[in-house]
Amino acid sequence: MTGKKIPIAEPKGRLGVLLAGLGAVSTTLVAGVEAVRRGLGQPVGSLTQMGTIRLGRRTDHRVPRIADFVPLAPLDDLVFGAWDIFEDDAYRAAREAAVLEPALLETLRPALEALRPMPGVFDPRYVRRLAGTHVKAAGSKWDLAARLGEDIERFRETSGATRLVLLWCGSTEAHVDLGPVHADLDALERGLREDDPDIPPSLVYAYAAVKAGVPVANATPNRVVDVPAIQQLAREKGVPIAGKDLKTGQTLMKTILAPGLKARMLGLSGWFSTNILGNRDGEVLDDPESFRAKEETKLSVLEQMLQPQLYPELYGELHHKVRIHYYPPRRDNKEGWDNIDLFGWLGYPMQIKINFLCRDSILAAPLALDLALFLDLAQRAKMVGIQEWLSFYFKSPMTAPGLYPEHDLFIQLTKLKNTLRFLQGEEQITHLGLEYYH
Ligand SMILES: NC(=O)c1ccc[n+]([C@@H]2O[C@H](COP(=O)([O-])OP(=O)(O)OC[C@H]3O[C@@H](n4cnc5c(N)ncnc54)[C@H](O)[C@@H]3O)[C@@H](O)[C@H]2O)c1
Repeated sequence: MTGKKIPIAEPKGRLGVLLAGLGAVSTTLVAGVEAVRRGLGQPVGSLTQMGTIRLGRRTDHRVPRIADFVPLAPLDDLVFGAWDIFEDDAYRAAREAAVLEPALLETLRPALEALRPMPGVFDPRYVRRLAGTHVKAAGSKWDLAARLGEDIERFRETSGATRLVLLWCGSTEAHVDLGPVHADLDALERGLREDDPDIPPSLVYAYAAVKAGVPVANATPNRVVDVPAIQQLAREKGVPIAGKDLKTGQTLMKTILAPGLKARMLGLSGWFSTNILGNRDGEVLDDPESFRAKEETKLSVLEQMLQPQLYPELYGELHHKVRIHYYPPRRDNKEGWDNIDLFGWLGYPMQIKINFLCRDSILAAPLALDLALFLDLAQRAKMVGIQEWLSFYFKSPMTAPGLYPEHDLFIQLTKLKNTLRFLQGEEQITHLGLEYYH
């Protein structure tokens, strides 16, 4: 049975993608999109560019590309803007990040040099390892939000974009507990005027963007849109939001493996994860305050998926540890080791070792691209507030209050694809399959 198609405005004109933070993830995204447009590479890792979606029965053989099934902005229509606390244009920032080959960056140089960041909103109290030099003059947080709002409107005009989205890709800030200032919009606006210390720069961007009607995805463990006051503003302004912390590397492996072990009712007594990482993100995370925010998004994943309260014999005694070490020689090419202590029939112990030599931003850039395109789709479909169907992309997916997040990558993918089917009035796929046997 098919449902009613949801009206979705066509993606006419340019889509402006604003990047808060022009570092490794952002420059790998911008350079990657440019390379794909010129036929210099494939958008590997991007569901919107490479994924397909099955429609109807298996015998129908209807499997369009996702990009042909829902109206997404084509890559040629993307135009980028950015803020950073350093003056480097996207070419220099990409050279510094050292993710992509210098020869490729040289080919793309004029296009990358044209992307020059606007001065950022920054406060070293929240990121102690960086001393930003390209920052907006001090004022109250309220004034700084107003400056960001002006930047957004200027970019809207100069880029010729008909729609905007913002990806928050700045550094990991010190952890901020939710407090009274985050509880509702009035409290947040008062806090902005009074320079409340519980409002980090990332939250100032989130406020400015959502107030301007711009959807926001949060690539980082910072709060950004993971704040009740911003969720209220998003509902009032009719803006979709999503977060938080892109699911790459070790957490990606956890959300692939752990559901499989649990599906077989195998027990786990320990999961030890350690990483070496030498990029600027690694340097920032070397500060225990910034690491705390990251640790929180990384640790919650296993607990939620394994449900020890339902399976105390299998997961009640799990020791889960996560460590990140800043080790400059490796730059963006992170190496992660996982030691998994598991047990089977009659409690007999076994071990799994994973050694993932991953490239962090190579895994992150396609996720950032998909989020920009799907958030734009959500806005044109009039989907408002937290977009739980985008959990697929995040280490710590945002949900409605009182709901636990779904971390299992394959449930997340089913949720995402069923949302696309729902939007287009197609039947939900339950995988029941009894109809083939009657
Ligand atoms: N690299 C990955 O694969 C990955 C995966 C998941 C999450 N993340 C998160 O994404 C974020 C970016 O990662 P990255 O590897 O690109 O780091 P990066 O250090 O290369 O880039 C971050 C950039 O943000 C800038 N910045 C910091 N504070 C800012 C502010 N207030 N306003 C504007 N710019 C600001 C920095 O100067 C830097 O250029 C980090 O928080 C990281 O934890 C990264």
